[in-house]
Amino acid sequence: MKIAVISDIHSNREAFDAVLKDIESEKADKIFCVGDLIGYGPDPEYIISKIRDMNIPTVMGNYDNAVAFGMTDCGCSYNPGRETEVGNISLKWTSENISDEYKSFLKTLPYTISVNIENVKILFVHGSTLDNLFEYVRPETSPERLKELTENISEDIIVNGHTHISMARHTHGKTFLNPGSIGRTKEGFPKAVYMIIDIKDGVFSYEFIKIDYDYRKTIEKIVSVGLPNELATVIALGNTYKMGKTDTLKTFFI
Ligand SMILES: [Fe+2]
Repeated sequence: MKIAVISDIHSNREAFDAVLKDIESEKADKIFCVGDLIGYGPDPEYIISKIRDMNIPTVMGNYDNAVAFGMTDCGCSYNPGRETEVGNISLKWTSENISDEYKSFLKTLPYTISVNIENVKILFVHGSTLDNLFEYVRPETSPERLKELTENISEDIIVNGHTHISMARHTHGKTFLNPGSIGRTKEGFPKAVYMIIDIKDGVFSYEFIKIDYDYRKTIEKIVSVGLPNELATVIALGNTYKMGKTDTLKTFFI
């Protein structure tokens, strides 16, 4: 059985459509999503409607949770100043551009999903097993922390999103996978990233797939709907960008 795993679409219609087309060509049997359907991009309702209408099993992301329950903070790691300002504008705009019907749908998303596919057990969660919405499980997360995240977990694979960086780590008898981000990658190119997991009789293999899409169109839409230019910059770079006088790349706008 072949499953496609997608994450962090962030209201990017062009990227999502390109990935759905590719998943079709891969002939995947099923799609799972590890959250953050919305935020930062110009097409939030389109993404929610597709996920709902295609019955794609999806866990709650931190941004989905913030909009669903009317929070003023998405739990994103912004630095003080302009970063926080842009983050706040994005959350307000997204919330104002999603109808109550779609917010009701977001409220129904579970925090975790567990499946058994051909004798491989998989747990899907946006953040981590101990902090479902907010913890970043990164390529540099310590082995000690990964061990804590595997305690009392019976699944073989733990899939998380949230970092916008694809990842595969094998430790303490578990496999941690992150499919990367469809709509707001931080891997240094303006592409949509997702993952295919192939499973047969208790054995699995995985592949990360990077798809070209019309990101210029997304950028134009971000600007034309009145979202901050900085949000378009992140899409164009496929990464965070330099702020002010600092010359180190910040990790924000996740
Ligand atoms: Fe995200």
